[in-house]
Amino acid sequence: MTWPKNWPIRPISPPPWARQEPTWRGARPALIASALDKALARPSGNWFVFAASSEVTSARPLGRRVAGRELVAWRDQGGELRIGPGACPHLGAPLCDAAVDGGSLVCRWHGLALGGDAPVLGWRCHPAHDDGVLAWVRLDEVGGEVPLERPVLPERPPRDTSLDAVATVLGRCEPEDVVFNRLDPWHGAWFHPYSFAELRVLDAGDEEFLVEVTFRLAKRVGVPVLARFTCPEPRTVVMHIVEGEGVGSVVETHATPLGVGADGVPRTAVIEATIAHSPRPGFSYARTVAPALRPVMRWAAKRLWRDDIAYAERRYELRSTGRWPG
Ligand code: FES
Ligand SMILES: [Fe+2]
Repeated sequence: MTWPKNWPIRPISPPPWARQEPTWRGARPALIASALDKALARPSGNWFVFAASSEVTSARPLGRRVAGRELVAWRDQGGELRIGPGACPHLGAPLCDAAVDGGSLVCRWHGLALGGDAPVLGWRCHPAHDDGVLAWVRLDEVGGEVPLERPVLPERPPRDTSLDAVATVLGRCEPEDVVFNRLDPWHGAWFHPYSFAELRVLDAGDEEFLVEVTFRLAKRVGVPVLARFTCPEPRTVVMHIVEGEGVGSVVETHATPLGVGADGVPRTAVIEATIAHSPRPGFSYARTVAPALRPVMRWAAKRLWRDDIAYAERRYELRSTGRWPG
């Protein structure tokens, strides 16, 4: 039988796992390290991904740590994203437990209202940006770079023809370990055989990697795509689908340093935004069932990330004990 030409799903017959082509020769440590150095040298304008936009509401504050700073986020009456220090400037009450009233935070301990434009007892909001998928915070004293008005965002598909989901995973490592893992596409079909097959890195420069890969749907069927990996800023790796089903779709991997844990090991949040796009008519239907699809998209990302976090944590462990071979 001839496979229909415009059918996105293809039969695949990958060799048994141990018989596939080894990729370690292509995955040269110096090449990945040089791509990482290039990424780390890019400006971030001191912006950090804080959370998914949808996690921040006007109903209650959301507390998170970024680079050891305790922060709190909520939305004001106009729905604007607000992010400020997480400790009340009066006697230090945790503001993640505050109430949101009239768009301001009201401290539970003695009723101090915070969050207007004027500073209160030295407390003031940080610059924040909501890009529609992710909530960002600018921490100038942490980043130490020249501040930018807005975070450096990758190109994304139009919102009205796309579907987004954000998954967050925590790791015992630093952001650069997460970026390094993402800049090693060669591990795909070996380390994640349940998700990828027939992976070939077609071009690997300092600035971008071009990868041909089949997303596995089942044992013998998959969706072949061409993907481009780039780093728009030092804590983000972006995969654009440039050919194949879902062309225009984007997976953004953002690594946010949370600070050092009680055990002395740094913690990093991997906040991954999948923005799926397809010009196919069926995709409009998929958008109407978006709430049902979102958990599936999240789960798919999390399964990969269990393994990728193990990779990043391993790199940090070896790096921090002088045993890293790369
Ligand atoms: S600790 Fe917040 S008002 Fe006193
Ligand atoms: Fe991976």
